[in-house]
Amino acid sequence: MSDRLFIFDTTLRDGEQVPGCQLNTVEKIQVAKQLELLGVDVIEAGFPISSPGDFNSVIEISKAVTWPTICALTRAVQKDIDVAADALKYAKHKRIHTGIGTSDEHIKYKFNSNREEIIERAVAAVKYAKRYVDDVEFYAEDAGRTDNEYLARVIEAVIKAGATVVNIPDTTGYCLPSEYGAKIKYLMEHVDGIHNAVISTHCHNDLGMATANTMAGVLNGARQVEVTINGIGERAGNTSLEEVAMIIKCHKDIDIETNINTQKIYPTSRMVSSLMNMPVQPNKAIVGRNAFAHSSGIHQDGVLKNVQTYEIIDPHDVGIDDNSIVLTARSGRAALKNRLHILGVNLDQEKLDKVYEDFLKLADKKKDINDDDILVLAGADRTQNHRIKLDYLQVTSGVGVHSVASLGLDISGEKFEACASGNGPVDAAIKALKKIIDRQMVLKEFTIQAISKGSDDMGKVHMQVEYDNRIYYGFGANTDIIAASVEAYIDCINKFKLD
Ligand code: KIV
Ligand code: ZN
Repeated sequence: MSDRLFIFDTTLRDGEQVPGCQLNTVEKIQVAKQLELLGVDVIEAGFPISSPGDFNSVIEISKAVTWPTICALTRAVQKDIDVAADALKYAKHKRIHTGIGTSDEHIKYKFNSNREEIIERAVAAVKYAKRYVDDVEFYAEDAGRTDNEYLARVIEAVIKAGATVVNIPDTTGYCLPSEYGAKIKYLMEHVDGIHNAVISTHCHNDLGMATANTMAGVLNGARQVEVTINGIGERAGNTSLEEVAMIIKCHKDIDIETNINTQKIYPTSRMVSSLMNMPVQPNKAIVGRNAFAHSSGIHQDGVLKNVQTYEIIDPHDVGIDDNSIVLTARSGRAALKNRLHILGVNLDQEKLDKVYEDFLKLADKKKDINDDDILVLAGADRTQNHRIKLDYLQVTSGVGVHSVASLGLDISGEKFEACASGNGPVDAAIKALKKIIDRQMVLKEFTIQAISKGSDDMGKVHMQVEYDNRIYYGFGANTDIIAASVEAYIDCINKFKLD
């Protein structure tokens, strides 16, 4: 029988730490339920002591999800562990994930400590967590840069203390695949009692090697992988779930299986991207827009003769279906509801009616409504409670003329208007906006997502605005790209901490 590889998803913890990707509890529950459908074994639902929001999300996800183990992160600190245990109280299967830095850099600069004391703290944390739960995972932060001999001592000690899973993070994404694989092999061969625990990989992508390192770990004995949807995560991200799942599926020579229902990969990817307003790069393996697009003549000719010439994955296996662009102005509520269901979004009647209304308005402007559009519409009520809303926008621009914008805002029910000119339509519109909202704010980043399906497509805009020494993230989506830009700016302003 093949060995089982456990999939530990940390989209809602390591992934959600990305600035601008924060989800509210309702959205986290939606993602968690989708992860359950996808078949992950463990959902890392948050870091409960870090904020009341994280604490509450772990509670609510624990209630909403049945099969996967719910995991909560802690430092090797008793208070963290108490709070995590409390947050996990409703989980059917629960795990506490505790740990401490083990590299010399962490021991010296972060803890001002020494190797022996770190082992003592690690053991104490595992023993303390064991008072609450049977399933305790220990992470040796920065294990990638920890020397193997010392790491083996730490891991042996925590397994003796009761750790059921030992996580070997390449926190800085530094390791080469050969190095990381050798590290796991070393632990397999030198840690007494290693068979009493599962070794887990946790690789970051700073040098673009996260998936390669994860697979090197698996090939050398790791049986749990820590991954995120679309590879999101701090800095360059974490190992992507879809890449590992499809490597295991494609390489029959690797005698390992996962519980992942690969046909749920694409809908899950779209859901996470849409809820987090985090675009997937077009050439991203497995889930990027171009992952299955053959553009060169030679490739197209080969694929038409036999898909196996250039395709190692059948797009249907990852849930990309040919009917993904089927909704038009003539589609009814049932068709919209069905498409949303396929994308993992289940709405109550009232919300569905609202989304359908918006859908018809969009369908008036745009012939075919694609999955991205639907997901944007389904998430559109995030702006519903905003204090500041765009009332109207009119822009004149063109070649050889100065751009002029007039704009109306609704601020808590009161109407404001302003007019401004600029060196382009967005500049003019934002100058008009700033005449009404007179604050010291600076646009730091402005990304317009590529329009992929025609000139009538929805434009999606991501912005970062600096205000009061903080960066705020905003998102806007509209068939009018200028309006989407203003919406994104207003989204930022609505997040300002104003007195
Ligand atoms: O990258 C890392 O080391 C982590 C640990 C907290 C598990 O995310
Ligand atoms: Zn991490």
